[in-house]
Amino acid sequence: MIIGIGVDVVHVRRLERWLSVPGLPERFFHPDELESAKSRGHAAALSLAARFAAKEAFGKALGTGLRGIKLGDIQVLNNHNGRPGIVLYGSALERFRNVGGQSIHLSLTHERDNAIAMVVMEA
Ligand SMILES: CC(C)(COP(=O)(O)OP(=O)(O)OC[C@H]1O[C@@H](n2cnc3c(N)ncnc32)[C@H](O)[C@@H]1OP(=O)(O)O)[C@@H](O)C(=O)NCCC(=O)NCCS
Repeated sequence: MIIGIGVDVVHVRRLERWLSVPGLPERFFHPDELESAKSRGHAAALSLAARFAAKEAFGKALGTGLRGIKLGDIQVLNNHNGRPGIVLYGSALERFRNVGGQSIHLSLTHERDNAIAMVVMEA
């Protein structure tokens, strides 16, 4: 049963600003997300914009927003086909379980300067 949906859009400029502030990216992203973005060269900021949009879309699907959740506890991972998914830790996993969540589906897109994420949550 679907218990939540969320969608979000993030402009790449927001990420470019954050990436220029020492220590900020580490607050918002899981270390593996930062590592994987680095390997994307000039597309790194857009890739992180999509991942940040996924975190906000997750917050909307929860219905509570992200207050009290450590953003690094929400990790976006791609499988061998490139399909993105969300892996949760700590504060994010706890909130997800509290709303009865059992599985999450994620879709990402990016074009020029904007990235969009959509999350569907099931129980
Ligand atoms: C829920 C949340 C993700 C919304 O993000 P946002 O970027 O402010 O909002 P957007 O402009 O993308 O979307 C706004 C819409 O979200 C929806 N929304 C608001 N609260 C919501 C909630 N609790 N659950 C689901 N959807 C919600 C509303 O429909 C709203 O539009 P409306 O007021 O016209 O109805 C946000 O409240 C949140 O938790 N943000 C935390 C972000 C953060 O930690 N940032 C750190 C870096 S600054």
